[in-house]
Amino acid sequence: MAYRLNPLVESVAAAPIAEAQSWIRGRVFPADRPLLDCAQAVPSYPPAEALTRHLAAAVQRPETAFYTDILGRADLRAALAAHLGQDYRGNIAAEQIGVTAGCNQAFCLVAQALARAGDEVILPLPFYFNYQMWLEMLGVSLVPLPVGAGDALPNPDEAARRITPRTRAIVLISPNNPTGATYPAELIQAFYRLAQRRGIALVLDETYKDFRASGAPAHALFQDRDWPQTLVQLYSFSKAYSLTGYRVGSIAAGRPLLDAVAKAMDCVAICAPHIGQEAALFGIERLAPWREEKRRMMLERLEALRAAFRANALEYQLISAGAFFAWVRHPFAGEVASAVARRLADRHNLLCLPGTIFGPGQEGALRLAFANLPAEKMAEVAERLVASQDHRG
Ligand SMILES: Cc1ncc(COP(=O)(O)O)c(C=O)c1O
Repeated sequence: MAYRLNPLVESVAAAPIAEAQSWIRGRVFPADRPLLDCAQAVPSYPPAEALTRHLAAAVQRPETAFYTDILGRADLRAALAAHLGQDYRGNIAAEQIGVTAGCNQAFCLVAQALARAGDEVILPLPFYFNYQMWLEMLGVSLVPLPVGAGDALPNPDEAARRITPRTRAIVLISPNNPTGATYPAELIQAFYRLAQRRGIALVLDETYKDFRASGAPAHALFQDRDWPQTLVQLYSFSKAYSLTGYRVGSIAAGRPLLDAVAKAMDCVAICAPHIGQEAALFGIERLAPWREEKRRMMLERLEALRAAFRANALEYQLISAGAFFAWVRHPFAGEVASAVARRLADRHNLLCLPGTIFGPGQEGALRLAFANLPAEKMAEVAERLVASQDHRG
C-alpha cells in the first residue's frame, strides 16, 4: 500500500508562477514583438560589482563555509538593527533581529511561532500567494480582508470586525505584493493600534521598503517603546540588493518571538546561508548609494508606466502601482482573469499574472510586475494592452 500525504499540504494549489511560465515555454518570439515578461518580480539587473568582488574574496575564507549563530551573525544583526533604527528613526536592538533564509522563511517561522492549527490570521485580499499557501499548510484559517476596490488599501475598522478569540495576527505587506499599493504611515499606525488593543501581532512585511517613492520613514511604529509586544517586521535582502539566490531576509521582533523562531530555525535550516549573510552585511554597510540608484530607476519605471496608461486609450484601469507591481482591472466583464492573461501571452506576447492567483473574487484583475522592464518599454506594454481590447467575447 502506498503511503499517504498530509492532506493539508496536498490540497494546497501548486506554486502558480510556474503555470503562467508554461504558457510561453518553447515559444520563439519575433524580434519586432519580443516577449514582455511581467510575471515574476525579480530584479532585472545583477548585484553590484563591488558585492560580487567582496563575495569572491569571502569564499576564500574557510569560516564563510561554516554555520553561523541560529539567528544570524552578530555583526549583521547589529548592522541591520542600526540601519532600521536610522531608517525608521526608531529603537531596535541587535538582539531584536533574527536573520533568515529569505523573507518567505521569515514569514513561515513567524507564522509557526504565532499560530497553530485552528487559529486565525487576517490578511488583506488579494493575498501574496505564498503566505496563503503556508497558512493553509499549517491548518491556520486565513481570514480575508478585502481591500478597497479603488485604492487597494485595507481598512482597519473592517479588520477589527474580523478579530475573534482565535485571531493571532494581522499580516500587512507594504509596499504590497500583488497590488503595489504603499500603505500610508497613518494607516499602518491604525492597524498597529488595533493589534495592540486586541493583543495580537501585527506582522508587517517590508520586502519592498527600499523602493518607496518617499524617503520619509514608512511608519513610526519603531518609535513606540512598546513595539516589541505587537510589531513583527519582516524584510528581504533579495530585491534591494538583487540577490534572490543568496537567500537572506530578516525578522525584527521581541525576544519571546525570536526565541520561538530560533527553535524552529534550528530544525529547519540551522542558520541562514553564511554567504548570504556576508552579502547582506556588505549591502547594508557599503551599498547605500547603489540601492538609492536602483530605487530611482524603479521610480522612473513606475512613472513611465503611469504615463503610458494616461497616454493611451486604455480600457484597462490602473488601480494601484508601486515598488515592483501594478494592479490592473481588465475590461472584459464576465471573463476570468486567467483567460485574459492567457490571451495576452498567446496573442500579444505579454506575460502577466491573473488576479485569481491571489485569492477568491479577483477575476477582474491582473498583476503586472512592471519593474522587470526598462522605462522605455512601458509604452509598448500599454500598446499591447490597447491592441488586446479589440477582442470581445
Ligand atoms: C511580499 C513578499 N514577501 C516575501 C518575498 C520573498 O522574499 P525572499 O526572496 O526574501 O524570500 C517576496 C518575493 O517576491 C515578496 O513579494
